[in-house]
Amino acid sequence: MLEKVNAGRLTSASDRFDFDELVQEDRAHRLIYTDPAIFQAEMTQVFGAVWVYLGHESQIARNDDFITTRLGLRPIILLRDSQGVIRALFNRCTHRGTTLCRKDKGTARTFTCPYHGWSYLNSGKLRAVPWPDGYACDFKDAKYNVAQVPRVDSYRGFIFGTLNLDAPPLLDYLGGITKPIDEWLDRQPGGKIAVCEANRLKYKGNWKLAYDNSGDGYHVVFSHRSLLEMENRQADVANKGMSYYRSSPDTAPMYMAYMGNGHHFKDKRPAIEKRAGGLWAVEGPAPGTEHYQEELRRRYGAKAEEILDLASSEPVNINVFPNFSLLGNHIQVFDPVAVDETDVTWYGTAVVDEEGVLGGAVDEINALRMRTMEQFPNFGEVDDLANFEEIQRGLGCLEDEWVYMHRGLGIPGRVKTDANGIITAPATDEAFMREYIREWKRLMKAEPNIAIKREP
Ligand code: FES
Ligand SMILES: [Fe+2]
Repeated sequence: MLEKVNAGRLTSASDRFDFDELVQEDRAHRLIYTDPAIFQAEMTQVFGAVWVYLGHESQIARNDDFITTRLGLRPIILLRDSQGVIRALFNRCTHRGTTLCRKDKGTARTFTCPYHGWSYLNSGKLRAVPWPDGYACDFKDAKYNVAQVPRVDSYRGFIFGTLNLDAPPLLDYLGGITKPIDEWLDRQPGGKIAVCEANRLKYKGNWKLAYDNSGDGYHVVFSHRSLLEMENRQADVANKGMSYYRSSPDTAPMYMAYMGNGHHFKDKRPAIEKRAGGLWAVEGPAPGTEHYQEELRRRYGAKAEEILDLASSEPVNINVFPNFSLLGNHIQVFDPVAVDETDVTWYGTAVVDEEGVLGGAVDEINALRMRTMEQFPNFGEVDDLANFEEIQRGLGCLEDEWVYMHRGLGIPGRVKTDANGIITAPATDEAFMREYIREWKRLMKAEPNIAIKREP
């Protein structure tokens, strides 16, 4: 049963703001990062209107498994119900609105509200109400069942949801970004990964500052200088980690591609030697892991190099608008909290060797993969978050209104568009930011067809 929601009337920001004025070709106004009314509108116009990443199938592998997550500000229980159907329930009791589930994850056939004890099946259907004799209503009425996201779909294990009945199918929404996602997965045995525990960070800044940064190859040598120096100090060769950003990153063998619908991709793989062990050779050093490498080389000989490549972070940033990135061998999720606060969660990923092609090396590979969380996710991400907080502070200067994003704009031949509409540019250009902000502007002016669903 669908319930239509007049989101435009609830959030309308278009009659208060002129988005064509706020977002221009080369610059964006500070208000898009600082205004609470624009943030509130984004929760429907963006986070309600497009496919938003919710979680991974491996996190709810068996029937009755659940995790709690968010869709914009909406608390969500993402689960596989007792029949095996993947659902995204609003984590909200229909009685007076309290959250039903306060755990991060678990297994449950039913959810009982902690406030007055109404209980629900994991299909969202109301199961029982304490002392029903005190009610004159018919609790079979579907309006008492938990609200849920009307459209939930997966792409190769990654689960997305949208409230917008007019949104295109997930596959069309992802469009060209499926190619790098496929390549990222197909590197793994069986083309699969399992999502591991998370490294949870937070910054006092707008969520778009993280998305502005996710394809930015311009800041690396400046913002992450200490990480680059540390990576190279620990190694006997000087090409570890992100060192290819040194000297002349404009012309280094890497590029960015804008795939439409706000998605973009920074590809640094052309800088990697194409040979077994080529990826592992540039992996930043993690002191204390040497014995894993020695053991793998002792056991597997020449084949150990391919195995070590599986433990490496692949040098790509695959950014799916508005809240999901694949980078290295990690998943990064951006969750808005307030106009000036954002949660950033980094999930490690493990290889799963269902066919046994790795000959028993899977534990060593996954142990090494977890240690790569100590590279960029721990020692680089904090540099970025510090910048985001300082941008938010800088944008407190009310009279200085604009931020610029025109690197590469107007230089003949620099930004190229192919026959499929994919835009490529040097990885240091801001073309990706101009393009995704243009998409953001289109969404802020559009009228999404928002609905929720309840079990009949
Ligand atoms: S708020 Fe859930 S039972 Fe009352
Ligand atoms: Fe960065």
